[in-house]
Amino acid sequence: MAIIKSKAKDFNETLYDIQLQRFPYPDGWRDNFIIVIQSSLPLLLMLSLVYSALVITKNVVHEKERKLKESMKMMGLSNWLHWAAWFIKCFVFLLIPMFICSLMLCLSFSSNGRKMLNHSDGYLIFIFLMLYATSGIMFCFFVSTLFYRANIAAAGAGVLWFLTYIPYFFLYNYWFTMSVKSKILACLDFQVAMSFGSYLIGQFEGQGQGVQWSNINQGVTIDDKFTFGHVLMMQVVDIIFYGLLTWYIEGVFPGEYGIPKKFYFPFSKKYWCNVQDLDEERIALTDCDDLENNRKAGEDDSFEEYPEDRKIGIQIQNLRKTFKTEAGIKQAVDDLSLNLYEGEITALLGHNGAGKTTTISMLTGLFPPTSGNAVVNGYDIIYNMDKIRGSLGICPQHNVLFDTLTVEEHLIFFATLKGMKSKQKIEEEVNRMIESIGLSDKRNAESRNLSGGMKRKLSVGNALIGDSKVVILDEPTSGMDVGARRFTWDLLQRERRGRTILLTTHFMDEADVLGDRIAIMASGKVQCYGSSLFLKKRYGVGYHMVMVKTPTCDPSQVQNLIENYVPTAQLESNIGLELSFILPSEYSNKFEELFTEIESNREGLGIASYGASVTTLEEVFIKVGEEQDTQESRSHTALFRQLSGKDQDSTNGTALPTFDAASIPFYKPTYEKNTGW
Ligand SMILES: Nc1ncnc2c1ncn2[C@@H]1O[C@H](COP(=O)(O)OP(=O)(O)OP(=O)(O)O)[C@@H](O)[C@H]1O
Ligand SMILES: [Mg+2]
Repeated sequence: MAIIKSKAKDFNETLYDIQLQRFPYPDGWRDNFIIVIQSSLPLLLMLSLVYSALVITKNVVHEKERKLKESMKMMGLSNWLHWAAWFIKCFVFLLIPMFICSLMLCLSFSSNGRKMLNHSDGYLIFIFLMLYATSGIMFCFFVSTLFYRANIAAAGAGVLWFLTYIPYFFLYNYWFTMSVKSKILACLDFQVAMSFGSYLIGQFEGQGQGVQWSNINQGVTIDDKFTFGHVLMMQVVDIIFYGLLTWYIEGVFPGEYGIPKKFYFPFSKKYWCNVQDLDEERIALTDCDDLENNRKAGEDDSFEEYPEDRKIGIQIQNLRKTFKTEAGIKQAVDDLSLNLYEGEITALLGHNGAGKTTTISMLTGLFPPTSGNAVVNGYDIIYNMDKIRGSLGICPQHNVLFDTLTVEEHLIFFATLKGMKSKQKIEEEVNRMIESIGLSDKRNAESRNLSGGMKRKLSVGNALIGDSKVVILDEPTSGMDVGARRFTWDLLQRERRGRTILLTTHFMDEADVLGDRIAIMASGKVQCYGSSLFLKKRYGVGYHMVMVKTPTCDPSQVQNLIENYVPTAQLESNIGLELSFILPSEYSNKFEELFTEIESNREGLGIASYGASVTTLEEVFIKVGEEQDTQESRSHTALFRQLSGKDQDSTNGTALPTFDAASIPFYKPTYEKNTGW
């Protein structure tokens, strides 16, 4: 004004009426509460869900850690259904607090009618909060794929939850200089998307219009093209993005349990093509004429010939599994080949650590084999595990039960997993199974309140229900009392029709009674295979004749009489009043005469009573162990000789036996192995 006055001669002071206005920015007013909302709403929202995030991640990983997830998958649960169930549970779980939160923000609780967000649309705020909660759930699912231990996962989720919020602190300062594209990109971090959304809500509130459906695609100012619509869109993108990450990482790195897919699996046709005619994918077992199995069964006298008229249920081909341990590489299963037949129970025996559970774990897809393959119910375990699982029933060595589900609920759940749809059929099947496993009085008891033996019974019921074609039972009767064991034997005998049953046990009588075929494993290998009779013939010492003596008995006189009929008879023991002989089975045709002779001279020989029994499976088991130990020590002696140069010494008598100190480590595991039987 002063400049105009000095320059213009005819300046009229009343000529100009000057008004100032911010242009082109719309009007705004200063409200300290709005400023607080702009800065604190993102922080408060982030903090409000941190506990839920920890709980969700921990529970998801806990299920994985306790093998519950793999167990359900083995029984036929599809992966998408598993995640869908978790999602629905978490969504409903967070729906309530988010709804209350929206009410608190958008409803008036004071007498003057003022609300926290005076102008914004309540529905839009609710959608924004729910999208934040949903992206948070998906983020937790993604984090759960990175961890195998529940407690570590919970801690990891907490740290990552805060870490993902940190970028907002920096980006906030660059709000006015950031381009729309970079803001959208930054929203790939779901916490940043939520924070930007909260910031916009504050800004719109400050303008007195709040976020509305009408301004969802408008920036706060004409300079800012980033809208609340962008935020909502990016929240949806985040949900999909974290979902895809979870799906991919879980597929490629399933953790301790589960079969990893190839890194390019999303691009493989096989993964996506849902072949309609499943029979096309079934492996024609008759085509596998070059199988190791047949060769072994034919050539090795420890292997009984495979029957030709029976249908193969499981065909194991050169299966191997090695574990990397701190002590080095552990060969848990070593070139295992075996056929199991439909309608039969095959018992797998072996000492602790022989590799039984590892074999079962590979057959059920808990982890992949290092090499080799197996065909279960017509599908191979490497590529078609999902198809196998629909007809698989498993009773794992360690109970995998849901603590809070009752006996009845467990059976309903597993029957449904097996594909039973009709409610009435499920009910009938569950009633039948509860009766069969003898848990009628515990029908409504939660599994955590069952005794150890009852839990085993329930696990057996879970495996058998739903007409599973292949049933794998890892030590089903461990921890059961004698009565319960007999009860379970009867159950398995009844249920084996039309099913292929593989059973492991440490009870020899159980294997003898139940096993149509018995395989004995040691050090990861099958040492012998065949019916109980075949194994007893192959490994048995013959018959045991046990006598109870009277004080007048002369053992040498008895022995002479026995040797007249069975020249190779051996005195097994002479302890107290008991006298025992081993009678080789090739003289079984002489037994009748021998027994008649003993019977007629009983009093003269001083024999109160006597009886004969055939070799037990227990003896076969011990004999197999001894043979294996001898074989191993032979091969280790050979190794020792090779390393010490003793071979040379024995052949030409020149080289002195030397013992190389470096070879010591080779012998230590050998000794441990031999004593492991
Ligand atoms: N995850 C693993 N990591 C390393 N070694 C393992 C693993 N699982 C099993 N093993 C080893 O593999 C061998 C076979 O174990 P497995 O559990 O199959 O034996 P098992 O025959 O079932 O014994 P048991 O009769 O005691 O149940 C053992 O020496 C065991 O220590
Ligand atoms: Mg085991």
